[in-house]
Amino acid sequence: MSLPTQVKLIDVGPRDGLQNEKQTVPAAVKIELVHRLQAAGLKEIEVTSFVSPKWVPQMGDNAEVMAGITRLSGVRYSVLTPNLKGLEAALALPRAAWPDEIVVFGAASEAFSQKNINCSISESIERFAPVVQAAKSVGIDVRGAMSCTVGCPYEGEIAPERVSMLAGLMRGIGVQRVDVADTIGVGTPLKVQRAIDATLQHFDMDHISGHFHDTYGQALANTLAALQLGVWNFQASVAGLGGCPYAKGATGNVATEDVVYLLHGMGIDTGIDLDKLIDAGQFISDSLQRPTNSRAGKALFNKRTST
Ligand code: HMG
Ligand code: MG
Repeated sequence: MSLPTQVKLIDVGPRDGLQNEKQTVPAAVKIELVHRLQAAGLKEIEVTSFVSPKWVPQMGDNAEVMAGITRLSGVRYSVLTPNLKGLEAALALPRAAWPDEIVVFGAASEAFSQKNINCSISESIERFAPVVQAAKSVGIDVRGAMSCTVGCPYEGEIAPERVSMLAGLMRGIGVQRVDVADTIGVGTPLKVQRAIDATLQHFDMDHISGHFHDTYGQALANTLAALQLGVWNFQASVAGLGGCPYAKGATGNVATEDVVYLLHGMGIDTGIDLDKLIDAGQFISDSLQRPTNSRAGKALFNKRTST
């Protein structure tokens, strides 16, 4: 079994993690979280989303958060933009606060596409096409998130052919890399591998990342299964924060701390300082007044405080 020797993690905690939070999280806390993640060695951070504040009120402070970050060179900051309006809002900021990468987000499930972004899959692609073009024309990279690649809260199991179809559509409009997302965490390793194989029909391994929610406790197993195929880019959320507002019952992404513990334990380099990452997880958990969802974070924090 040959595994990648290096893995790049994108922490999506400030966006995917916090978007579903019922309590208002102040922009200052979001900014501090980004600062702590980059101090821990994260080289990619999904900061916020430029979506409708009526749909996702928690992300309504997107401009303030983007403008408030003190950037570290070598770190890539991304934001979600579902349409031109979102991209225009991101580009209305001073240039220094522009994202390095935007994310258009589609789904392999028609029903989820409707619930999440209020249009069909083909309408979403039509909507994304000018966003992709406009972003690239000003030097901003484009990632495509593909939701429900193994299962959908409304349609149930999703066939790999539908994942391949979506990946092909994303590729066709110029998306540069894609996330294979298990939005509701129902996937198991072989199903996740099939979704990745389907994506490989249109993107090479260097341009595919795994995005696994942990609702059924399968996310680390799915991460290992993806690693075994050669995937070396993953999204995870510090402290295991999160859930999608349009996927009822879905819990957070796999915790970044748990993925880092897994990878380091297998001798895979991430460039991340696990101790500092645990501090970042503790910071946001304390701010939200609840315990961390990271098993490794909890164990290592307890060990630290008991010695
Ligand atoms: P819509 O209602 O069809 O849009 O929503 P519309 O174009 O008809 O506009 C309606 C109103 O929204 C108008 O305002 C627009 O100006 C405004 P009004 O005239 O009523 O005052 N509007 C916007 N405002 C700010 N920013 C914008 C924007 N666009 C329109 N960009 C829309 C369509 C896509 C906007 C809406 O459905 C939406 O915002 N959806 C966001 C859903 C979302 O954020 N979901 C969570 C992220 S996806 C996710 O978590 C999955 C992921 O993690 C991967 C995985 O795990 O699967 C990525
Ligand atoms: Mg997600």
